[in-house]
Amino acid sequence: MLELSARAKSISPSPTLSIDTKTKALKASGVDVVNLSVGEPDFPTPDRAALAGVAAITSQFTKYTDVSGILELRQAIADKLNAENGLSYAPSEIIVSSGAKHSLYNIFMVILNPGDEVLLPAPYWVSYPEQIRLAGGVVVAMPTNESTHFKITPAQLEAAITDKTKAILINSPSNPTGAVYTQNELQALAKVIEQHDLFVVSDEIYEQLIYGVEHYSIAKFSETLKERTFLVNGFSKTYAMTGWRVGYVAGPAPYIKAMSSFQSHTTANPASISQKAALGALGTFDARHREEFQARRDYVLDQLRTLNGVTCAKPDGAFYVFPNIKGVLGKRFKKGNGDTVALQSVDQFCEELLTEVHVSTVPGTGFGAPDNFRISYATSQAQLEKAMGRMKDFFGRIE
Ligand SMILES: Cc1ncc(COP(=O)(O)O)c(C=O)c1O
Repeated sequence: MLELSARAKSISPSPTLSIDTKTKALKASGVDVVNLSVGEPDFPTPDRAALAGVAAITSQFTKYTDVSGILELRQAIADKLNAENGLSYAPSEIIVSSGAKHSLYNIFMVILNPGDEVLLPAPYWVSYPEQIRLAGGVVVAMPTNESTHFKITPAQLEAAITDKTKAILINSPSNPTGAVYTQNELQALAKVIEQHDLFVVSDEIYEQLIYGVEHYSIAKFSETLKERTFLVNGFSKTYAMTGWRVGYVAGPAPYIKAMSSFQSHTTANPASISQKAALGALGTFDARHREEFQARRDYVLDQLRTLNGVTCAKPDGAFYVFPNIKGVLGKRFKKGNGDTVALQSVDQFCEELLTEVHVSTVPGTGFGAPDNFRISYATSQAQLEKAMGRMKDFFGRIE
């Protein structure tokens, strides 16, 4: 067989999507699995978005569009950024892509040369390091843990900057930790960034899913900062539109133009129908979803804190909790068939959790956190209660 490229061989598949595939296979074989591994809201796509999508189809809005997305949508996004984030962008400073994942990949492809370093606070979303490496960049992880509420400090940032540093990635609210930087914390980081020639990739896709805190965009602190920031957002999380694949970037026009040229040769425009649906979705975020998520977060946290060997920081945003299970790693677990096994790693812990009590979660390994695992609470309260009951049973069998 002819060989794959070194690039292809270097990629590991998305661990979150592969767990999802395993979970679905188990479900298809008739097992009653509670799936806490997915990163998508369980709410429906808003009617206005769905109807706009249908209207796009029936009115034959089904052809190529502007590569960067239809002007109407880019203008509506600019209006949203102005009204909700206090940031002024022209439509020429916005590019719409096939999901925020695609937006991020476009950014790395247009800003990174081989060997350029990207500072990445860890734990991080699984796709960042893979995308950075695919674009030829070098990942420089900046470790954080529960004691700093999973946030980097200005001193840590300063110390990580070298003459090869090209960009820093900030993801607030964070997947997987749910950490949200305060305005003051961001301002302190902004001061360090301003003193160096760095791009900022600010992934704000969970901006609406925050509980009792405020979301702030780092691009807001100064014109200098705005001119080097790529603000990334999308429709997947706020509007429960993961399958429609619409994300966007706002940033300085020359970089956006480069991304548009890149996109013109790779995917071209995001789906015309999805763009119309996104236009219909804007402004329809239902604040009741936020309340619902907050109540679920509180429930899951309360339950987790009753489990021996588990500690869990309180996340302020997104729809994940990220418990630490260092206290059970190395201990023995009694399987349903009477055998006992040592829980050597978080990967094995999640595997046993899935096969023994049928609760699907994601090990922290892919997020750069080998002592943690991720629970998504974007599922019904009834499912969460079932899952937490099963986890109690599981923990009761750790010796
Ligand atoms: C932090 C973060 N950024 C970006 C994305 C990509 O979202 P999408 O490509 O669905 O817009 C996700 C999805 O899980 C995410 O968690």
